[in-house]
Amino acid sequence: MTALAPEPVTHTANLAAELGALLAPASVLRCNEPLAKRTTLRVGGPAEIYVEPADEAELAKVLRFCRDHDVPFFLLGRGSNLLIRDGGIRGMVIHLGAPGFSQIEVEGEQLRCGAGAKLKDIALTAKRHGIGGLEFLEGIPGNLGGALRMNAGAMNGWTFEAVESLRYMDYAGAAHERAARDVETTYRSCPLLKSAVALGAVLKGRPAPREQIEAKLTECQQKRWTSQPKEPSAGCIFKNTKTIPAGKLVDELGLKGTRVGGAVVSGTHGNFIVNDGTATARDVLALIEVIRRTAREKRAIELETEVEIVGED
Ligand code: EPU
Repeated sequence: MTALAPEPVTHTANLAAELGALLAPASVLRCNEPLAKRTTLRVGGPAEIYVEPADEAELAKVLRFCRDHDVPFFLLGRGSNLLIRDGGIRGMVIHLGAPGFSQIEVEGEQLRCGAGAKLKDIALTAKRHGIGGLEFLEGIPGNLGGALRMNAGAMNGWTFEAVESLRYMDYAGAAHERAARDVETTYRSCPLLKSAVALGAVLKGRPAPREQIEAKLTECQQKRWTSQPKEPSAGCIFKNTKTIPAGKLVDELGLKGTRVGGAVVSGTHGNFIVNDGTATARDVLALIEVIRRTAREKRAIELETEVEIVGED
């Protein structure tokens, strides 16, 4: 009988094995994990190493491991507002999908929520407890961590307007809590969370009659259903400009329906690119360039992407 040659041990497998030895069995660790299905746009390549830490102590281990081994890492939320290139993400992709990261606890008019909590669930929990002011979160297709990181907004509201305090972990694995008034934020950005991991936040609302909250939620839902596409998309592709909303600009430029491969400018809203089911990240990126070039040439407007673009070609 001929002995089989040993499997070539790759750098990735080595790293994954080394990290796996440090983590508790409740944490998830996989190599070459497909990511397209974990994004709302449904394009993009795999994660070299994918990890779902079971709790904060496990997350701290992963972050320290990355620091000590010089491994780049990316925090994947619910995959909205995200465009992963077709070559996938090198290094570690960390997802706070374990139940311990998604708690929503009501304390009076405040909600203590984990970064993994869905914004829709937060809005509905607030409604059940007669807490108003958080209805705008219902329409944002993401979890709290992502919304904090990009100070996401909808219906003239934005995330940090509702934040009382923020919990985050630095890249050395230490957890911190900070009052929201001490955290700098801008339109669609929270710079602190560009170099720290959001763990959660205390959100504040105000007592409101149930019917009033219901009415606001319905208004948010209807606006979204009637003005935004139902096909897979990453949400709004561009930030609004100071002079004109990006969707209105794309509309005025006559670009709705423009297609590159399986990526199409939505006919419903000009600031959405939808995937007809066959799109690649390359198609979407090429279409973004068509729009940016047209806006530059015809209106002298420089469009800036809102969607986060990550990964390798
Ligand atoms: N408009 C057009 N044609 C279009 C699209 C929009 O003329 O094809 C006009 C609308 O009629 C309106 C204006 O442009 O007068 C603004 O449009 P809309 O009310 O839809 O809001 P938006 O500024 O395009 C923002 C957020 C959305 C959020 C909605 C709802 C940004 C970049 N986008 O869109 O957020 O859902 O408000 O409040 O700030 C996202 O961030 O991913 C996102 C979808």
